[in-house]
Amino acid sequence: MTLKTLIKGGRIIDPSQGIDKISDLLIVDGLVKEINTSISKPRNAEIFNAEGLIVCPGFIDIHCHLREPGEEYKETIQTGTAAAAAGGFTTVCAMPNTQPAMDNQSVVEYVLKKAKETASIRVLPIGSVTIGRKGKQLSEMSELADLGVIGFSDDGDPVEDPNIMRQALSYSAGLKLPIINHCEVPSLADGASMNEGWVSNRLGLKGMPSSAEEVMVARDISLAELTGGHVHIAHASTRGTIDLIRSAKANGTKVTCEVTPHHLTLTENTVMGHGKDDFQPLGTNAYDTNAKVNPPLRSKSDVASMIESLNTGTIDFIATDHAPHSEVDKMTTFQDSSFGISVLETALGSLMTLVDQGQMEVNTLIKKLTNDPATFLGMDIGNLKTGTSGDITIIDPNEIWTVDPGDFISKGKNTPLEGSLLKGKIKATFYQGTKVY
Ligand code: DOR
Ligand code: ZN
Repeated sequence: MTLKTLIKGGRIIDPSQGIDKISDLLIVDGLVKEINTSISKPRNAEIFNAEGLIVCPGFIDIHCHLREPGEEYKETIQTGTAAAAAGGFTTVCAMPNTQPAMDNQSVVEYVLKKAKETASIRVLPIGSVTIGRKGKQLSEMSELADLGVIGFSDDGDPVEDPNIMRQALSYSAGLKLPIINHCEVPSLADGASMNEGWVSNRLGLKGMPSSAEEVMVARDISLAELTGGHVHIAHASTRGTIDLIRSAKANGTKVTCEVTPHHLTLTENTVMGHGKDDFQPLGTNAYDTNAKVNPPLRSKSDVASMIESLNTGTIDFIATDHAPHSEVDKMTTFQDSSFGISVLETALGSLMTLVDQGQMEVNTLIKKLTNDPATFLGMDIGNLKTGTSGDITIIDPNEIWTVDPGDFISKGKNTPLEGSLLKGKIKATFYQGTKVY
């Protein structure tokens, strides 16, 4: 029997086709069949009433840590993709800082097999740039490319050696895949646990300067120009990074970048336990290790630059950098804690605050979660064109809810947003026409 779902009366937003109108949407056999003002119910169709809701393409996350194989106590492909579906995502790209790293065929094949068996949505693996992510010797990049990796990254760590980065960019140019670099000069960031500035001074924590990121971004732009390779800057976080990327793009350099929800919505003040940028008594959440992330939460000026650059297009798209950790990794001093935030289930709600505050159009936000990452992948997903995969996310833009990590599907409960009120909630997610959330 053919599976049919009729989504009735929603506000359909598909930036790829410039659609923003109240309409019905019909999915048949896993594919988008039709968008029309009024579609009569086909026989045997399930009805989803979307009145008052936004209906858009499923979100695509280019940067996500699923932890399998090796750290299944933090997350698995099953829990991570179920959490992603709850966050409105229908495609996630899995970072290779697993144990062992995704640096060879058998590990990537294992991830693909596990995804086939346990994932509720599409999982696209990213191969590591170097063997064991140690930065010394290139992985078998072309074999990994044959398996379908969408790019290469040693994320969690930078590709430190410029000559290795040069070689990686040269190879990847031939493979037509990007090198996704976590830009951080180790000697400038050594031992640091937050952004360098007055907040780190006040809290007595060692900070990492913006330059730790920017020096490597500048280097990578130069190497992309030298090799003709495509460098993608992971989790851009500073105003200086954006300035470098803007001018490199103007010169025609193959550079793209992403920004996370937290670098768009939180500042370093979160580490003081409040969002205020003036001298206040420390909040009860000061030194909350759930606010420790790499790159660190930055200054108010950096956050303003991130929002502006996403609006103007210097930043290509939003990616979560979902980094689940266990309680043991986080229940320690700020210095000793692991870096990372569990993001998948709060991404939309936190980003909608930008829309609510008039800092971003909802259409732009959806474009940066759907069409623009799809363009990066070169895949025909992230749109609602007839015949494409029925990957659909349904949002209530007005529902107000309180973040309770206890409710997360993700094993990673590590969010600095615990207790926050967010406006905007995922109501349903369809992957290939099947309701997965
Ligand atoms: O905060 C982070 N956590 N940044 C990274 O680059 C890696 C990630 C992780 O794997 O935990
Ligand atoms: Zn990273």
